[in-house]
Amino acid sequence: MPEPIQEAVARRRTFAIIAHPDAGKTTLTEKLLLFGGAIQLAGEVKAKKDKIQTRSDWMKIERERGISVVTSVMTFEYGDNVFNLLDTPGHEDFADDTYRTLSAVDSAVMVIDAAKGIEPRTLKLFEVCRLRDIPIVTFVNKMDREARNTFEILDEIEQKLALDTAPVTWPIGQGKTFSGTYHLSENAVRRSDAETERAKVNGPESDKVAGLLPENERDQLIEELELAREACRPFDLKAFREGHLTPVYFGSALRNFGVRDLIEGLGDYAPPPRDQEADTRTVHATEPKMTSFVFKIQANMDPNHRDRIAFVRVCSGTLERGMKAKLVRTGKPMSLSAPQFFFARSRITADEAFAGDVVGIPNHGTLRIGDTLTEGEEILFRGVPNFAPEILRRVRLGDAMKAKKLKEALHQMAEEGVVQLFSPEDGSPAIVGVVGALQLDVLKERLSVEYTLPVDFEMARFSVCRWISANDPAELQRFIEAHRGDIARDLDEDPVFLAQHEFGLNYEAERWKQIKFDAIKDYQ
Ligand code: G4P
Repeated sequence: MPEPIQEAVARRRTFAIIAHPDAGKTTLTEKLLLFGGAIQLAGEVKAKKDKIQTRSDWMKIERERGISVVTSVMTFEYGDNVFNLLDTPGHEDFADDTYRTLSAVDSAVMVIDAAKGIEPRTLKLFEVCRLRDIPIVTFVNKMDREARNTFEILDEIEQKLALDTAPVTWPIGQGKTFSGTYHLSENAVRRSDAETERAKVNGPESDKVAGLLPENERDQLIEELELAREACRPFDLKAFREGHLTPVYFGSALRNFGVRDLIEGLGDYAPPPRDQEADTRTVHATEPKMTSFVFKIQANMDPNHRDRIAFVRVCSGTLERGMKAKLVRTGKPMSLSAPQFFFARSRITADEAFAGDVVGIPNHGTLRIGDTLTEGEEILFRGVPNFAPEILRRVRLGDAMKAKKLKEALHQMAEEGVVQLFSPEDGSPAIVGVVGALQLDVLKERLSVEYTLPVDFEMARFSVCRWISANDPAELQRFIEAHRGDIARDLDEDPVFLAQHEFGLNYEAERWKQIKFDAIKDYQ
């Protein structure tokens, strides 16, 4: 019997892991998958990650995407829940890919290195989550090593992120003496043997707690636990779901400890698929009609066929194999003949997917980032963001005869989100924009391998790019006409203002008060 939609939605948890490089994201991912039975052997995720450590290796990986794509989304079950873990690229240069992925999750796990606390990348990713009110579960990792004092860690989260903390578990010891966690509200102990269940105890003084530690650390632990129970905030589901409070777990991903508490916490507290804002109305996850949007495109699944996989987040209804969907941007129907689910090592044909699920839709360029698919309804999801590029370059082509081919290729790359493309109003050659320099390497390599277009990049006259708009269209037009040489159109024909430097931008913003200059644009 098919699963009723309400039940299917209630079971789902769609999340990402945010972390500064080296905090343990890969190790934790692997352990979560192990618990979910999605992989048998630890080390598989890691093995893939190792390959993309260096710049030159990145290119090879790009070509081997057919293998690595399976880690873009990982689905596993634990208890009654279905978890969809959306992977984000580790390298900062691909940050815009990460931000787009965050638009498709309902919650995030923030991994913190217990010795290092909040690091810059964590802070940045947290800010993106906050913009979207994504609830955050915190996992303080590497407790098996020298760690900061637990209160200090909690305090740092509160101060640096302006986020209330509610420790759910408390570490028993740290470094060499890390031997388990104490569940504060349940008064239960989980020893650092992943297989053991939580054991109820009478309180912090119980031998089952202090007995885990060497004598000289016992009193301190009892004191800490008592203070924690008195002074720390209790977990508050509403505050968490609204993004004001984070439950905190402690553990060691490497030693497979604390991971089970985390996964159970996600199942208990993390929200099921949320309602999604579309342009004309709010779409509820349990509505019967299918709606979904594209947040990521992966090309080169098979280099000979130039096919792409569009990663689609289902927002409502049931996405069924073989169904006809409407691609709202073009108004054309599209047959979803082979949607796919992804697991750690494999992908399978998806017969049906519910809100919160992510399916891959193979296509030959029909779908692009930000696209909405429905069962016929004219709605558009907003919120897959576009970030103003920080590097702008002109593409120099060795062979002028191939200009048209280059234009097409750049257009495709822009649709996939590899780069952003801007066509100057004055007819000069297109400008590509990226957030990180490695994206340019990927573009160059792909143009060469897939399109036999050897290109180079040259500095553009500009270094700053902003989307421009105004309440009064006539005022926008006046601005455009007064700056013709500094205006370009993006892929959607929306106008951008290009400035040589921040100073120039600020100068114009001062003079043209009715013009809005945006560094972020949501895909339409
Ligand atoms: P990342 O994806 O966030 O970049 O981090 P990753 O999981 O790759 O972990 C970074 C390093 O930290 C790895 O060591 C990993 O083994 C180690 N690590 C992760 N979790 C824990 C933990 O709970 N405790 C301890 N002690 N170490 C942890 P590496 O030396 O870079 O790699 P490897 O040679 O160990 O594979």
